[in-house]
Amino acid sequence: MALLPILEYPDPRLKTVARPVTRFDDRLRALVADMAETMYEAPGVGLAATQVDFHERLLVIDVSESKDQLKVFINPEILWSSEERVECEEGCLSVPGVYDAVTRPARVRVRAQDEHGATFELDCEGLLAVCVQHEMDHLLGKVFVEYLSPLKQDRIRTKMRKRKVKAA
Ligand code: NI
Repeated sequence: MALLPILEYPDPRLKTVARPVTRFDDRLRALVADMAETMYEAPGVGLAATQVDFHERLLVIDVSESKDQLKVFINPEILWSSEERVECEEGCLSVPGVYDAVTRPARVRVRAQDEHGATFELDCEGLLAVCVQHEMDHLLGKVFVEYLSPLKQDRIRTKMRKRKVKAA
């Protein structure tokens, strides 16, 4: 297992649209294990392959307090979204230190495959619903700050640039 470097906004590679996963092999399972390790270490509640520069439709999520409820979603699709929407304060491992409110459907039903290729459906609500939608956006090349006003996005880009200069 290995920790993977996480791309930081506004890295243009975060805009890449991920391809479907077609091979459920040991390489894929090693990537899932590395992504899970990277997410827990960060620490975060979700990580999309896009964020670690693998452009495949794959995400890992664990919203449990005990951090022992890993969920792996490969080739996820949203089958249904509730009309009810909720506002939630979101953050992202690719935009460290930035949190802001995003409004999304409160509940979603997701169909995905696990790391062995088995298909499952899951009804998601609360933080899990928010997290699944946030991570699925990454697979389409979208970061949550793109839901914010242009002014806020400008400020965040400035903040991230300064952070980079400090780190260099
Ligand atoms: Ni994110």
